[in-house]
This record gives sequence, C-alpha cells and structure tokens, in this order.
Amino acid sequence: MSEQTLSNLMHEDRRFEPPAGLAADANVKEEAYARADSDREAFWASAAERLDWGQKWDQVLDWSNPPFAKWFVGGTINASVNCVDRHVDAGNGDKVALHWIGEPEDDTRDITYAQLKDEVSKAANALTGLGVQKGDRVAIYMPMIPEVVVAMLACARIGAPHTVVFGGFSADALASRITDCGAKVVITADGGYRRGAPSALKPAVDEAVTKLEDDELASKVLVVRRTGQDVDWDDDRDVWWHEAVDNASADHEPELHDAEHPLFVMYTSGSTGKPKGILHTTGGYLTGTSFTHWEVFDLKDDDVYWCTADVGWITGHSYMVYGPLANGATQVMFEGTPEKGRWWQIVQDYKVTLFYTAPTAIRTFMKQGREIPDAYDMSSLRLLGSVGEPINPEAYVWYREVIGGDRCPVVDTWWQTETGQIMISPLPGVTAGKPGSAMKALPGIAADVVDDDAQSVGNGNGGYLVLKEPWPAMLRTLWGDDERFKDTYWSRWKGLYFAGDGAKLDDDGDIWLLGRVDDVMNVSGHRLSTTEIESALVSHPKVAEAAVVGAADETTGQAVCAFVILRDSAGDGGEDIVEELRKHVAKEIGAIAKPRQIMVVAELPKTRSGKIMRRLLKDVAEDREVGDVTTLADSTVMDLIKSKSSGSS
Ligand code: WT7
Repeated sequence: MSEQTLSNLMHEDRRFEPPAGLAADANVKEEAYARADSDREAFWASAAERLDWGQKWDQVLDWSNPPFAKWFVGGTINASVNCVDRHVDAGNGDKVALHWIGEPEDDTRDITYAQLKDEVSKAANALTGLGVQKGDRVAIYMPMIPEVVVAMLACARIGAPHTVVFGGFSADALASRITDCGAKVVITADGGYRRGAPSALKPAVDEAVTKLEDDELASKVLVVRRTGQDVDWDDDRDVWWHEAVDNASADHEPELHDAEHPLFVMYTSGSTGKPKGILHTTGGYLTGTSFTHWEVFDLKDDDVYWCTADVGWITGHSYMVYGPLANGATQVMFEGTPEKGRWWQIVQDYKVTLFYTAPTAIRTFMKQGREIPDAYDMSSLRLLGSVGEPINPEAYVWYREVIGGDRCPVVDTWWQTETGQIMISPLPGVTAGKPGSAMKALPGIAADVVDDDAQSVGNGNGGYLVLKEPWPAMLRTLWGDDERFKDTYWSRWKGLYFAGDGAKLDDDGDIWLLGRVDDVMNVSGHRLSTTEIESALVSHPKVAEAAVVGAADETTGQAVCAFVILRDSAGDGGEDIVEELRKHVAKEIGAIAKPRQIMVVAELPKTRSGKIMRRLLKDVAEDREVGDVTTLADSTVMDLIKSKSSGSS
C-alpha cells in the first residue's frame, strides 16, 4: 500500500457498529481492556483458568531473563487432554469436532470428540511403538485430512514437539527442516487431492530422506493411505498408518508436561536465507490461542466455525487445531482450494456461523463476481475474520456486504507465526470497525508504533509496530539459536519486540498495518524471504546474480519479481530460460515461491558499496517512474533495465 493510498484510506469514515445482539451477549466486553491494564498477569491467569491443568502454576510470568519468557511456571498440562479428553469427560463426546470435507465431492467424515480421543490415543501408542519418546521431534508433511490433526495431537500427548511442513514445500525444504530440528520420525501420506486429481507427497519424503546426513533422522516414516496411488516402499523405514495406528490400543494414559515443554516448531521465512524455527511451548500457547479464539470470534457452544487456512501454517495451528479444539468447538475442515461456489456451498450445507479467511481469497472472489456467492444461502454466518495481510477497505466492505449480508462484523486480525496468537483486532461485540484497520491491541496486549529512536509516534503518524510486554503465546526462541532470536526481534530497541511491520496510528489512535519493512514479502498471506529466493536462483548453473522484490499485486497482495544476470557461459540462456528458472525455484523451495515475473538483465542497480537497491527494482516491477538514482554507482543501469522491462512479460 503506498503512502498516498494510505492517507486516502485514513480519511475513510465508514464505521460499522457491532450488531446489538452480539454486543449484549459478547464473551468479552469493554471492561476487559481496563481489567487487563490494571493487572496484566491476573488477566492472563484468568484466561489460563479456562484450561485443565495438572499442577497449578506458582508464578504467572517469569520475565527475569528477557527476552526469554516463562509463563505459568511450575504448572503442568497436556495440550491433547485439553483438546479432546476434557470435552469427552464433560459429557460432550458426541459433539462433532470436525466436519471434514474432502476435495472429491461426497467425500466427507464427521468426527466427534469421543472418536477424536480414540484416534489420538491410538496414534500416541503407535508413535511410542515406533520409538518416539518425550522430547523427540516429529516432522509432519500431510494434506488437509483428519489424520494431520490426529498426528499433531498425538505428538502433543506424548510430549514430542512436531514440526508441520506445508505440503506445498519441496523435498529440499522438507529435508532442511528435518535436519534443523532433528526429526526422528516423519508422518506423511501417499498424496492428497488438488484440483480434482491425486497429488503425490510420499516421493518428496523419499527424496528428502536421501538428502539427510544422519541415520537417526527420519528413521521411520509413517504413511497415511489417502489417494491409493502407488508408492515406493522401504521395508525398514516405511510403516503404514492403517497398520500401526488402527491396530493400536485406544487407551492411552497421558502424561502431564511442564507448562514450558516445547509443543512445536514452525519454520517461517526471515530476512536472511535460512528459515527460522519458531518455538512455541505448551501452557502459554494454549492459553493465548484458546482465549483469543473465544474472545475474537465470540465463540458460543452451538457455533460452527470454519478457518480456511492450511494446517501447514501458523493459522492452521492456532485457529484450526489448538485454539478451537481446546474450546470444544465444532468446525469445518476442507481439503480443497477455493473454487467458484464450493466454499459457499459448504457454508450453506454446514450452516457455518464463524468464518476466517485471508484477503487474497476475498479479492479473488470479488474478481469472479458476486453472482457466485449470491446463489447460496449464507444467513447462518454471524461473524467474519480476516488474517495474513492488510485488507484493503474495498475488499473489507465487499466481504461484509456480499458474504456477511451486511449484518456480520468483520474482525481484521493482526498477528504472526512468532506471536502465536491474535494480537491486534477489533472486539466483535465492542468495536465499531473501520474498513482497513486492525484497530487496537487486544486486552492484555501492549502494542505501539514508534520511530527510529523508539519514541511513540503519537496519533496521526507512522512508524514501526512494536510489542511492549510479553504475552502468553509468544515464541520462546528460535530452535537451537538463542542469539538469532535476540538479534532478530529484540536488538533494534531495548526491551521492545520488533515485529517487522510498518504501521500508522490514525487520529483516534487506531492501528493501520502497512506491510513489512524488512526483506520479507507477503504473497497471498504467506511469508517469503527475498534472500531465500535469490539464493535459490543463484544456485542455478546459468545464473550469476539475482535480486528479488515483492511487487504490489491486485490479487495476491504482493507478487515475487526477480531480476537475474546470467553467467557468460549461459549465453542468452535459451528461449525457455524464464520457465526453467521458475521451475528451479519451485524445486528448491516450493511452488508458492515461484516468481510471477523474471527479467533477465545485464546489470543490477548497486550503490557504491555494492548494495543492491531493491527500491528501484520495485519501481520497475510496479511499473512506476524510477525514484532517486543519485546513490547508484552507475546511474545508467536503470535506463538499461527499464528499456529491457518494457519488452518483457
Ligand atoms: C506477517 C506475519 C498471522 C497468521 C498468518 C501470517 C502480515 C498478518 C495481518 C493483518 C496486516 C498482516 C504482517 C505480519 N499480517 N496479519 N491482519 N493485517 N498484515 O503469519 O506468515 O507469520 O506473517 O503477516 O506483515 O508480520 P506469518
């Protein structure tokens, strides 16, 4: 979003008051802000009371060694018990936990909490049978099928931290994650369904295994049969899920884990090439996610909740698996991707009441036209959520009117893989929403916008978004790299967590997110690192140098645009060089990282000290007049690139 668009936006004066019924009956009311301000720790302690604990904590927060936080010190808890057993014990075993909907039409399964408990218990026994012990890491590389939820909860049950790798990532990406966190076992499937056809997953695991240098890594691979496609089989390593899990006992006595026991590691892109292993622990994470899920979505017992995220991202972890299940919610889980009316058919058929998706999907539906959603009865909906990137006012208003029938509040939720839980969002029963603004930090969260000297910018000004106090679901460190954790988030200003986002406060003090200020791009709500894609490009034998920028894109928010210099030996690279390089990036990282556009250029714009000026490349990619070139070592370079770009796609 440009400065100009933003200042136009901030004069946006439409306000949407909460519906009266929702406001009267809201789970969290206005008083919560003051209550949290007067005693933040007591506020989070009462949120933690919503969960079942073994040993109660002695201390809510230990912040004696910042930035390393410990929450609910001395407490013991089991995440899977909170997500399944306790609902069954409370007499809700027959309540549907998951309305699972497969991609092939008519392929559906309803799973109750009692059934989920049995499946999780069996899987926990099976994992133990494969030699997985408390503290061992397990990698999960699966499609959106119920077994992925079972696998995660089974790991949590036995205290084996999981690392879920999105099924769209390549074998290389999987291998590097298995190596970085030292995963002993991998859980996968033969394949999943994508756009009507089976799409294999197991071959990527097989390939990843060949790249591992240590025999201890991925020594067992547990495989769910989903599509029935042929798979290569290693008798020593590979085990069928339906043999190991289905035959295991459904009795499993769970152990209580320390509140700070690692729950999972989620890899995400940073501003350098190497993905960061974000570590989340148990008690605080479960407190933060379950409480905010209940608060921000105003969850009631009879709601049908649907979060469209893939489980391979943090949204799937916090707001499909741990938050909603800890709250005993009934939810929809869909294997497919949004195609025409399929989502709205699901909303109609399952009477979905709470719906959570990303702006990129909303913008795609806008382009297709309102006739498609208008053909369905979506009167069950009562609240809509947005996450992953700034939602432009136009998309917000369309979402509200066309999907929400002008009666559902829209909650624009800002958070990150690192924060674990929603941090900035309207409260649906309290806040008069402004299209385009994520509004205010939630009760118990301290956010601000500061300048280079860490001073609050004050209303009406822009700067950097920071978090000023620890929160329960905050990342605890980067897996195996405390130094990088301190450097990345805590070194810019003393005592402040730097989120990496630019933001502005409007005249009312409400927060408008402006996107990343580092070398991280946001494509369809997914985080990609410019440096990581640059390294993938230069690993191709024909490429000498590469620079990547995120250029504004109407549908995906940002799109990956690459500028490459070929090696002399590659000549002009051949006719298909662009396609060849796009494929290479997909192979190295995954299809989501494929550049939308690659321009072969003779030079890159550099400063005298050799730094690539991405700002200028961004001007080219966004088809703008090129900005100030006076600091370039050779100011004619941009003319060359411009003349080249006008002729390319
Ligand atoms: C980055 C975090 C949070 C789960 C999905 C993405 C951007 C996220 C919003 C929002 C504006 C947003 C930020 C943030 N972002 N939500 N509501 N408005 N920007 O998680 O991959 O860790 O990415 O996504 O830039 O830093 P992630």
